[in-house]
Amino acid sequence: MANNYTKAERPTMYFIGVTTGKSSIMKVFPEWAKYLEIDAEIKGFDFKPHDEPAKYLEAVRFIKNDPKSEGALVTTHKLDLLEACKGEFEGLGPYAKELREISSISKRGNELWGHAKDPVTVGLSFEAIVKDGYWNETGAEMLILGAGGSSLALVTYLIGRAKDGRDLPSKIIINNRSEKRLNELKKHAVKMVEEAGVDINLGFNLCPSPADNDAVAVNLKEGSLVVNATGLGKDSPGSPLTDDVIFPQKGIVWEFNYRGDLVFLDQANAQKEARQLSVVDGWFYFIHGWTRVIAEVFHKDIPTEGPVFNELCEIAARAGSPTNKAG
Ligand SMILES: NC(=O)c1ccc[n+]([C@@H]2O[C@H](COP(=O)([O-])OP(=O)(O)OC[C@H]3O[C@@H](n4cnc5c(N)ncnc54)[C@H](OP(=O)(O)O)[C@@H]3O)[C@@H](O)[C@H]2O)c1
Repeated sequence: MANNYTKAERPTMYFIGVTTGKSSIMKVFPEWAKYLEIDAEIKGFDFKPHDEPAKYLEAVRFIKNDPKSEGALVTTHKLDLLEACKGEFEGLGPYAKELREISSISKRGNELWGHAKDPVTVGLSFEAIVKDGYWNETGAEMLILGAGGSSLALVTYLIGRAKDGRDLPSKIIINNRSEKRLNELKKHAVKMVEEAGVDINLGFNLCPSPADNDAVAVNLKEGSLVVNATGLGKDSPGSPLTDDVIFPQKGIVWEFNYRGDLVFLDQANAQKEARQLSVVDGWFYFIHGWTRVIAEVFHKDIPTEGPVFNELCEIAARAGSPTNKAG
């Protein structure tokens, strides 16, 4: 994959991913830019997952030294890119150091800045799904399937929420199919909880097969939230659950993705009426993810709710139809 590092003639934001040309952001960004009065275009840089450090360095140095290259949103390569390019950044925002990743590259004068926005954007998405006080009222639990980057972002957000004295699920359970990732997240989460001085009931389960995840889901309390943070359905086929899973009565089911063959969503929708479920996909997560980075790159105040945010959602839905939405 050869990226084209040609001097930008007009302000440009980059999308650093794997198959960026397929993303609906290529259609959504120009419409958002018009609405937000941002004079800029978007271009993609594609890398293989875990690409060579020198390739990440080449892209970051290009953005840093090209005056009209304003910044970038990073997916998939968040950890690898920061590891390869640490020395290029004059500043790192909150969470970037502790999570050792960045999803946003921006400039402040002559300085290059990196931010880890995921704990913020997953948090905004979480707040849109569960109303304040819900956990105290219901005593419900939360099951996160997967112990990757986005799962860690959600746990980080929830620890911050507890630190702010806000209510939390009575138990936060994390299941993962490989022990290594599960243990890494456990170590990280336990340390963050200790440092924050909060009281959170965390549970970790090694679940190599979907039937193992079913066995945890069936014991959740009424009203509990079940999150698919495995990427199964988009990144690889299938679901982390079997078709025999029993979702909690009056539960909330949240799939982090909104495109792909989302079997997990189908499984939830099949039980929606019988078990009175609320079923949510990852579209708002996508919108929050992009708008937070655009705000950072163009130093623009973009609200996270209200009429302007609602208009951005409508513009995105019009520009990126359900068949070509791509994160
Ligand atoms: N809507 C949005 O804008 C948005 C934003 C952020 C993320 N996402 C999506 O969320 C998904 C997860 O992202 P990520 O960055 O966290 O991915 P990731 O780092 O690859 O993590 C996925 C984790 O799920 C685990 N897993 C896979 N199958 C499992 C199963 N059957 N049971 C339990 N655990 C299982 C993996 O286990 P191993 O340790 O065995 O690999 C891995 O730890 C991706 O598809 C991403 O696109 C969407």
